[in-house]
Amino acid sequence: MSLILGIETSCDETGIALVEDGRRVIAETLLSQVDIHRVFGGVVPEIASRKHIEVIYQLTRDTLAQAGLDMASGRQQIDAVAATRGPGLMGSLLVGMGFARSLTWAWRKPFVPVHHIEGHLYAAFLGERVPQFPFLALIVSGGHTQLVYCPEPLRYELLGTTRDDAVGECFDKVARLLGLPYPGGPSIQKVAQTGNPDACHFPRAMRDSDTLDFSYSGLKTAVLYMLRDHPDLPVPDVAASFQRAAVDMLLERTEQAIARTGCERLVVAGGVAANALLRESVQQLGVEVYLPAFRWCLDNGAMIACAAHYRLQAGCADHTLSASADPSLDLICSGQAG
Ligand code: KG4
Ligand code: ZN
Repeated sequence: MSLILGIETSCDETGIALVEDGRRVIAETLLSQVDIHRVFGGVVPEIASRKHIEVIYQLTRDTLAQAGLDMASGRQQIDAVAATRGPGLMGSLLVGMGFARSLTWAWRKPFVPVHHIEGHLYAAFLGERVPQFPFLALIVSGGHTQLVYCPEPLRYELLGTTRDDAVGECFDKVARLLGLPYPGGPSIQKVAQTGNPDACHFPRAMRDSDTLDFSYSGLKTAVLYMLRDHPDLPVPDVAASFQRAAVDMLLERTEQAIARTGCERLVVAGGVAANALLRESVQQLGVEVYLPAFRWCLDNGAMIACAAHYRLQAGCADHTLSASADPSLDLICSGQAG
């Protein structure tokens, strides 16, 4: 049995969790800073890191308390401490890494650095059904839009990636154009509920190309021009049409990747995996689909602890505490050897 404390502080959420055997979430706390950053229309890095410092110790104590532990008994019961190493905001990553390394040093336990996107991917392992390898992963977050072939734990083969904006970033930028609050994804989804997805035609980028790459900057610009040329269009109609186009582009590429790899299982992970239209649409792809539970789609500590379980099994702990926070850490390079 393994009991791992996972710490996520890569952006504007402080997430702490205790996970048993990479499957069962025993305790978790999450402090979102969304309300603090909303007035600025996006995350302010300096404010984010200061807030992480303010709350990380108490949240850890609260998480341990949920499991009937304190710092002393935690030292006895917990097998390893994991934290997000990157990618993310440097200041925010440093807080989680520094705190986790101090704990592991004091507790004489292994420290496991985890790639943030690897964490998102392993969030799908926290559900009732655990995906078997090999599988195809569609990674859709604020900073990533990738199709990755996963032949075995901690091995990643990149099939396609975005050439410009990430899909989550596109949701955030389009929300801003529509005057909707940050974060854009949930705002667009909410407004789109009452809109007509056929109201505006938006282009599906690189539709006829045989690459598995994505491009989202053209879609954002198409929305900009649509609003400039038709200022009276109802916001719900534009939001619904945009959401339909954004999701269609993900589905088309994923369908091609399934055909090329012959993969029978698909994991969808990252913040945009919380999108209801995407969750519903991927079920039509004719493969076994694994989606993290809604609460584990966005940044959280449980996904980091879950990924760390597999890293620990593969002997990938950082025994010398020498791994440093890396704001642009690459998923493919951070695989088995990382
Ligand atoms: O994975 P995540 O928490 O951050 C990164 O690791 O980058 O994802 C955040 C992104 C934001 O761009 C946000 O707008 C988007 O996920 N998002 C959504 C939804 N919920 C969050 N996008 C579309 N629909 C949603 N329901
Ligand atoms: Zn994330």
